[in-house]
Amino acid sequence: MKIPWLESGEEIKEELINIRRQFHQYPELGYEETRTAETIATILRDLGLEVETGVAKTGVVALLKGKKAGKTIGIRGDMDALPLEEVSDAPYRSKEHGKMHACGHDAHMTYVIGAAKLLKKYESHLRGNVKFIFQPAEESTGGAKPMIEEGVLENPQVDAILGGHVWPDTPTGSIEVLKGPVMASTGILDLVIYGKGGHAARPHENIDPIQIGQEILQRLQNLSSRGIDPLENLVISICSFQAGETHNVMPEKAVLKGTIRTLNNALRLEIPEKIKKIVENITNYYGAAYSLEITHLYPATINEEGFTTFAKASAEELLGKGKVIQGDRPSMAGEDFAFYLEKIPGTFLRIGNYDGEKGLVYNLHNPHFDIDEAQLGKISALYAKIAMDFLDENI
Ligand code: NI
Repeated sequence: MKIPWLESGEEIKEELINIRRQFHQYPELGYEETRTAETIATILRDLGLEVETGVAKTGVVALLKGKKAGKTIGIRGDMDALPLEEVSDAPYRSKEHGKMHACGHDAHMTYVIGAAKLLKKYESHLRGNVKFIFQPAEESTGGAKPMIEEGVLENPQVDAILGGHVWPDTPTGSIEVLKGPVMASTGILDLVIYGKGGHAARPHENIDPIQIGQEILQRLQNLSSRGIDPLENLVISICSFQAGETHNVMPEKAVLKGTIRTLNNALRLEIPEKIKKIVENITNYYGAAYSLEITHLYPATINEEGFTTFAKASAEELLGKGKVIQGDRPSMAGEDFAFYLEKIPGTFLRIGNYDGEKGLVYNLHNPHFDIDEAQLGKISALYAKIAMDFLDENI
């Protein structure tokens, strides 16, 4: 039997819109997603799935076991909102002051719930298992790694993973698929330069941390043009540079903070040493001291080729070839889906969310951001079909 995925997705669309609006009206920040988790757990338990809560604090994992034995695929949705005030007249706008689902995670959770409903409906065809993974704190410290540490990819062992993100550059109704890097690694840099303060009119008696800081800043920018292979990507942005209080006193120290991003996980590990060398050389030259901390956050998100090719073909069958775009421009934003892809094959899709006529023109994290609710049934169907197809192919 050919499963009518799209029709079945359309049938539950209104239900999914209601679920999405519940999430949207009550956004919760990373590791505070208790109400969200409760809503998810209730829906999935009512569906008859095995549900585990409290994974990595507020995460929820549900398992659908097929009637026939086979492999296991994971489908992941992230749960957290952002600390900003929504600007919207919609009846479903955020009821929480200063909190908003401005990154579409309300939609991501709803797609996974929709897929669970559809796969449950056709479970007699299911060969193997589907694990529905609701992950906290994507926007802050990252819930993916702790979920993996708590065994989300085991028991049963997950063989491949699917995830996605609403994407403001891709038209609604279409999805975009990228092979290889899709999102950048993220890291942060904290640098303090300790100079010697004094009278501004006697600079020769001082060690000026501002002068040293600006030299370091410039040399860091040279790293991406001279320090690495020109075919690779590297972003170092110093976004905070604080020093001094007034016009005529040279300060004792300068504090710099910034972000480091690349699409290459091997290069990512080489960058801290290169930065340290620059800082060491320049501070040495001027006789200043420094403290430097570089913290790796998320690795680059690298879509595995085999699974990605498979998911693309499955999507084309459902949506039509014209609606599945082969993307070739990764984003330098970060995403902790990367941690799953370090462990198992999988792919991270871009779900089209641009529609000028509907006013869907805002970028992620914008206070006007909204998602296209009309796609909720379709994307749920897409997730369900890719999961079912994968299990059918990989017995
Ligand atoms: Ni996001």
